[in-house]
Amino acid sequence: MSGTNSNLPTPRILAVANQKGGVGKTTTAINLGTAMAAIGQCVLIIDMDPQGNASTGLGIDHDDRKISTFDVLMDPNIVTQSLLATAVPGLLLMPSTLDLLGVENELANTPDRSFRLKQAIELIKNIQINNGHETKPFDYIIIDCPPSFNLLTINAMAAAQSVLVPVQAEFFALEGLSQLTNSIEEFRKLLNPTLDIMGIVLTMVDDRTKLSKTVAAEVSSVFGDKLYNAVIPRNVKVSEAPSFGQPVLLYDLKAPGSQAYIELAREILQNER
Ligand SMILES: Nc1ncnc2c1ncn2[C@@H]1O[C@H](COP(=O)(O)OP(=O)(O)OP(=O)(O)O)[C@@H](O)[C@H]1O
Ligand SMILES: [Mg+2]
Repeated sequence: MSGTNSNLPTPRILAVANQKGGVGKTTTAINLGTAMAAIGQCVLIIDMDPQGNASTGLGIDHDDRKISTFDVLMDPNIVTQSLLATAVPGLLLMPSTLDLLGVENELANTPDRSFRLKQAIELIKNIQINNGHETKPFDYIIIDCPPSFNLLTINAMAAAQSVLVPVQAEFFALEGLSQLTNSIEEFRKLLNPTLDIMGIVLTMVDDRTKLSKTVAAEVSSVFGDKLYNAVIPRNVKVSEAPSFGQPVLLYDLKAPGSQAYIELAREILQNER
């Protein structure tokens, strides 16, 4: 059952982005990727953040990050060698290291600097991935962006088809979102005319607060059905899992956070069919 998403290009390439720090981008990239792999998708997570949180959260030691996103941006031709298996069948990772901090300098005089990731992804579009049940190309490529709009995010935005936006349920959420939509508009003009917002997911939602409900109502009044029904609750298991180098779905499948990411994965797949 390869190419499950009938009319859409395979792989689907998503940038998980929000210029605001600490809103759950990396947590969403790791756990959405894991949930998708658990329901049969072949998935690649690209760690585009020098912090390397997605790599650490997936249990990849620094010593094993031999060829990193940095190296791939320097030379897209080595992309295949950068891909690492994770503990989740069907989920691969392109790891990052602090070297990524140097990309802006290294590529300063390179005319195609914004399109290095796009070139690399072109080269792995058709490679065959075995998830234990079948062998097929990647269904999803999920790019974990840093919390700023620099050359790294620009590369992600040039390569992606769509942006997935995690939004923390808090008072100024809408303000941050309007900055983000302005930036996406710019990226569309400059780099990628068909880039769109795939959806918005509320993270760290505390059901007991009226605030969460107000934020959800406000976001949906502006973004309508782009707001996913699935919401990610604030859940201590979600925040503990990365220190064990595990997605929360492996750490505690029954945790509310795990179940929420499975719901989100199902909703995204459903919407795309
Ligand atoms: N649903 C959740 N419940 C509890 N804690 C969470 C949840 N989601 C994320 N966190 C915690 O919040 C912090 C920020 O999350 P995360 O690293 O995913 O955000 P980020 O947007 O990627 O941050 P940055 O902008 O620094 O890259 C982390 O400590 C993470 O463990
Ligand atoms: Mg992050």
